[in-house]
Amino acid sequence: MSIKRIAVATTTGGYEVVIGSGLLAKAGNYLAQALGSNSSAVLVLYDEVLEAFGYPQRVRAALMAVFPSVHVVAVPSGEGSKSWAQAQRLYSACIDAGLDRDSVIVALGGGMVGDLAGFVAATYMRGVHFVQMPTTLLAHDSSIGGKVAINLPEGKNLIGAFHAPRLVLYDVSTLRSLPVLERANGLAEAVKHGVIADATLYDWIGQHGAALLTGDEELTAQLLARSCQIKVDIVAVDERESGVRAILNFGHTIGHAIEAAQAGRMPHGAAVAIGMVYETRLAVLHGLAQEQTAQHLQDTLSQLSLPTDLPPELQSAQGIDLLIDLMRRDKKAVRRSLSFVLPRAIGSVEVHKDIPEQSVREVLSSH
Ligand SMILES: NC(=O)c1ccc[n+]([C@@H]2O[C@H](COP(=O)([O-])OP(=O)(O)OC[C@H]3O[C@@H](n4cnc5c(N)ncnc54)[C@H](O)[C@@H]3O)[C@@H](O)[C@H]2O)c1
Ligand SMILES: [Zn+2]
Repeated sequence: MSIKRIAVATTTGGYEVVIGSGLLAKAGNYLAQALGSNSSAVLVLYDEVLEAFGYPQRVRAALMAVFPSVHVVAVPSGEGSKSWAQAQRLYSACIDAGLDRDSVIVALGGGMVGDLAGFVAATYMRGVHFVQMPTTLLAHDSSIGGKVAINLPEGKNLIGAFHAPRLVLYDVSTLRSLPVLERANGLAEAVKHGVIADATLYDWIGQHGAALLTGDEELTAQLLARSCQIKVDIVAVDERESGVRAILNFGHTIGHAIEAAQAGRMPHGAAVAIGMVYETRLAVLHGLAQEQTAQHLQDTLSQLSLPTDLPPELQSAQGIDLLIDLMRRDKKAVRRSLSFVLPRAIGSVEVHKDIPEQSVREVLSSH
């Protein structure tokens, strides 16, 4: 498989997304290229599930061949680790590993570890270098763009920062061990990129859904290259989300509320899939999109084994009240308004900052 490289321009200097098979074994060389080999210490924070597959061991060996001081620390799997308690534990790990301002924190894992490790890298000593090594399909979205965060019990990603990585090293061979449900979760964000910016990508995912779900490596690498490029193009023009970047939140106003209401029991991608379906219905209700667009999106997501209905416990009047309350508390809500990214058609969306609560209630109650 050929290696694909995507350059990302940022105000702090830019970085590369490198996509290919077997890259972890060369992690030392890639890091040295991106950062120079005189970094004082490297701390790899990894999702504990990866140990059984040997990935942290591989990264450690590759880094030790190049860097004098390498430490690896496991993080318990699951969204619950994107917490203040874990961040605090990891600050202590930074001190124990002797990290200083020239040091590097590497996130090896999915979006959970990426967001948590990135948050620690952004704040420890006012910021140390950060490198992402994504091991989930979903993390093609989360590893690019520099948003890092932890959750509060009151909502997702409420404490965070912008802290761009110096390198994203995407070894697609690590996706072989990814459970099929997690593949589907990752495809949800790729479908999102299709809906907001690229109808061709959206159709392509529809055609190759089965092969992508079973983990075809070549197709997956192609998908990642295209989907990463879309994200890169959007964040390049609006790094701090003052404008167009907001379109990346399609499916997320409702998705984040579902995720928060489910307290981490529903994966991010699944919640975004449901959010995209209801938000497209909202666009239909407001005369922006056609009914067929909503139906097509629902069919596409179902074919990818993604959920498209609210979980039963959130379909009640109290469930909908809770979701609306969570949406108003979301950090994207300005003065508690209900803000949505609504599609006009596949490949074209627009931001609506003040959608009436009644419309949202209406679509959430329609099944
Ligand atoms: N910062 C951003 O811009 C951004 C964007 C999108 C999502 N996110 C965040 O990303 C998180 C979701 O990411 P995720 O879906 O990758 O979740 P995750 O990191 O929790 O990984 C999902 C599951 O897969 C397991 N896993 C990871 N890699 C594996 C591998 N190679 N083989 C086998 N199992 C593996 C994990 O243990 C976990 O159980 C959420 O917290 C979300 O808020 C952030
Ligand atoms: Zn997302």
